[in-house]
Amino acid sequence: MLTGKTALVTGATGGIGAGIAARLAAHGARVMAHYRSRPPTQPDVLAVQADLRKPAEVDRLLAETLDRLGGLDIVVNNAGVQPVQPLSEQTLADWRAVFAGTVDTAFLVTKAAANLMVGRGGGAIIAIGSIEGTLPAVGHAHYASAKAALLMHTKAAALEYGPHGIRVNAVSPGLISRPGIEDAWPEGVASWTEHAPLGRLGTPEDVGDACVFLASDLSRWITGQNLTVDGGMSVRPAW
Ligand SMILES: NC(=O)c1ccc[n+]([C@@H]2O[C@H](COP(=O)([O-])OP(=O)(O)OC[C@H]3O[C@@H](n4cnc5c(N)ncnc54)[C@H](OP(=O)(O)O)[C@@H]3O)[C@@H](O)[C@H]2O)c1
Repeated sequence: MLTGKTALVTGATGGIGAGIAARLAAHGARVMAHYRSRPPTQPDVLAVQADLRKPAEVDRLLAETLDRLGGLDIVVNNAGVQPVQPLSEQTLADWRAVFAGTVDTAFLVTKAAANLMVGRGGGAIIAIGSIEGTLPAVGHAHYASAKAALLMHTKAAALEYGPHGIRVNAVSPGLISRPGIEDAWPEGVASWTEHAPLGRLGTPEDVGDACVFLASDLSRWITGQNLTVDGGMSVRPAW
């Protein structure tokens, strides 16, 4: 489905990012894996390091990606931070750190990527949001607010870049499994599994396959949208 396409995935050595990169590659894309502090362990993975809060590092990442892949058709803005803190304990520095790691990073990467895609036949940009962008969880006031901003940025970017053939969409996951989560947060896993209509946590590959759809020509008339990938949890009534 993505044969001949080139893709950049940010935070590609994290849990969900690795799944997104794997699914894009499985569908034929050549993938550049971005990381900040955890380099990939497989020697054959194309990778670039950058702190995405810094404009010069983002520009270097995009230039190196274009140079090494010979094109840039797909960008997945997956990198993000997700600390848990009660609102009453959040400082202005905590709030700003979550916005910097979530919104500033996607703003900088989207703008730099779109500048390259304009005049090169367009492309597809995907932001990894969260169901918390519309349904906040306790301890996540900064995170939920930042993900809501990311969803609006996605719509605004779709509006401005559509005439250049660049589609911009979001994927908003629910709770995604990671190694050790059952031991670290047993009550959260049990509650999710009991209440989600599809009866399980998501996997990084579930998120990755939604990205494959939004990156491919199957979604050619879809832009500015938010695809929720949560096993149906967000349609469950609270009463
Ligand atoms: N896990 C879930 O249940 C869930 C649910 C909904 C949405 N999400 C979203 O999915 C995305 C991935 O989450 P995850 O659970 O896979 O988390 P993760 O394993 O912690 O991965 C996050 C990635 O973001 C990178 N990153 C963070 N700040 C960065 C910065 N300033 N510059 C460059 N890279 C930066 C990290 O890089 P390094 O580790 O290399 O430093 C890491 O690769 C996030 O946007 C998150 O909000 C997660």
